[in-house]
Amino acid sequence: MVLPESQPTGPIDQVVTSGTFSLDGGTWAVMNNVWIIGDEKEVIVIDASHDVETIAEGIADRRVVAVICTHGHNDHVNQGPALADRFDAPILLNLAEAPLWMMTHPDRKPDRELSDGDVFRVGGISLRAIVTPGHSPGSTCLYAQDLGTVFSGDTLFKGGPGVTGRSFSSFDSIIDSISDRLLTLPGDTVVRTGHGVSTTVGTELPHLGDWILRGRGTPGLRRR
Ligand SMILES: [Fe+2]
Repeated sequence: MVLPESQPTGPIDQVVTSGTFSLDGGTWAVMNNVWIIGDEKEVIVIDASHDVETIAEGIADRRVVAVICTHGHNDHVNQGPALADRFDAPILLNLAEAPLWMMTHPDRKPDRELSDGDVFRVGGISLRAIVTPGHSPGSTCLYAQDLGTVFSGDTLFKGGPGVTGRSFSSFDSIIDSISDRLLTLPGDTVVRTGHGVSTTVGTELPHLGDWILRGRGTPGLRRR
């Protein structure tokens, strides 16, 4: 489904796709946000989830500079190779996500490593990689300062951090990442998430202490 307000013209187009997330023997139905950043000529796709045809509709006839994966959970990467092949684009993923990636794509590696501080330019927009371990070891957010937005993957949502109750995750790490690297961005920065609705840094910042209290008593905060 391409959202009506998000015709494929840039600078930010949102596509929502549905499928499942599986890890540690469980499977859950999920809807994922796929973010397409750029202009009318070229784009970067953040996460390739569930439905390559729907994502391709959102891209339209634009060139895909890169497919950047915020992390290696299957719901965020399951269409990565198909999308990359269709648009002749490289797949980028942080190296620490390799064990998760391999669960979905054992015979295909990402094309390039995604590292902290990497800057990608597309359609006059700069995206800077901010590595935010916790939800997974190499979870990575993309910050577009010019657009006043950060694409947070499954690290930060409206209402709290992503889940840390499953393999390869760490609650203490995600809290450090959020407090040190995301909530230090300007308060009006729009947080565009991997699932669900957007929020802002200023909306979430006052609740950090509550999340820490809540999270220390539960194995995970969200089913993602
Ligand atoms: Fe995830």
